[in-house]
Amino acid sequence: MDENPSDDPYVCEPLHGSHPRGDGTDRVPPALEDANVLSNEPVADDVWLMRLSAPRTAATARPGQFAHVRLSQERDSVLRVPLSFFAATPSEGTISLLYQVLGASTRLMSQMRRGEACDLIGPIGRGWLDRRAPAATIFEPRRAILVAGGLGVAPLATLAENLAATGCRVDVVVGARTTSRIAARERLETVCPDLSIATDDGSEGYHGLITHLVSERLATHVPEDPYDYCAICGPAPMEVAAAHLVQGTGIYAEVSTERLMACGVGACLSCVVPTTRGLVRSCVEGPVFSVEEVVWDEL
Ligand SMILES: Cc1cc2nc3c(=O)[nH]c(=O)nc-3n(C[C@H](O)[C@H](O)[C@H](O)COP(=O)(O)OP(=O)(O)OC[C@H]3O[C@@H](n4cnc5c(N)ncnc54)[C@H](O)[C@@H]3O)c2cc1C
Ligand code: FES
Repeated sequence: MDENPSDDPYVCEPLHGSHPRGDGTDRVPPALEDANVLSNEPVADDVWLMRLSAPRTAATARPGQFAHVRLSQERDSVLRVPLSFFAATPSEGTISLLYQVLGASTRLMSQMRRGEACDLIGPIGRGWLDRRAPAATIFEPRRAILVAGGLGVAPLATLAENLAATGCRVDVVVGARTTSRIAARERLETVCPDLSIATDDGSEGYHGLITHLVSERLATHVPEDPYDYCAICGPAPMEVAAAHLVQGTGIYAEVSTERLMACGVGACLSCVVPTTRGLVRSCVEGPVFSVEEVVWDEL
């Protein structure tokens, strides 16, 4: 296992831009950057954390945006792996990626060692609270509910920290197959000590679907202390179910749609999402969309 400069792999600075502006004015165009692996280690079952030196990207990444990473062993391949920013530390010029080992690319990624080179394109896309929303005003949530299914926690961890830094009260609902698959727990607990957890096998928290806990939380949506923001990221069926729960509640809700992506720069149309504006490319116009603009029945 590679050496990590910190004993705690989750000790990272939140992504810069700690005040969610809601107007996307601090977004910069993506660029190609060479990167070096600083550390790469398992942090939960089949879940790894890679820290990379990538100063340009670290300085400009926003929560919910992602990097398109080409692994060193795959220099001949045109395919890249899209991964959300789990953290960025502009002062050190580093970014962190939290990833689940699923197939060939992520397995290869887990074999990379300190000092190995790769390259990435980033930061890509529109992240959380990166739109004039709602009603063309700067939006600063006061009470938020974040819904993280599996590795959906990766783009939500920095959002949780940034919201908390602005004084927003943050509730986090986490769903996982089993307790040993829950990643980033320590970071989430710093902003939400009372995490709501659901596991498929009942090994921790509620035995069943995360959406059960989301409906319970939304039932506390009372006029005196209302949620005004909801952020959702996870497997597509969970996102559909959570979106249906939050629609019509008056809560401004966003979802990070993790579509299959080939080019990552808007050229191939492999990532389109049906919206009220028609089919749009998730890589450049997402991955974060407002729940209201996605046409869920066609997803
Ligand atoms: C914008 C964006 C951000 C992402 N952020 C993260 C992240 O922070 N951490 C993380 O672990 N993963 C993230 N993903 C998913 C990640 O890109 C895929 O898991 C990865 O590409 C799988 O590559 P592979 O070659 O290992 O597996 P493959 O062999 O390509 O795929 C293995 C399985 O995963 C499915 N899969 C592959 N890519 C996706 C995808 N994009 N969405 C849904 N299912 C997929 C395949 O259909 C297949 O069933 C993100 C995806 C997108 C589009
Ligand atoms: S991945 Fe090619 S257009 Fe989005």
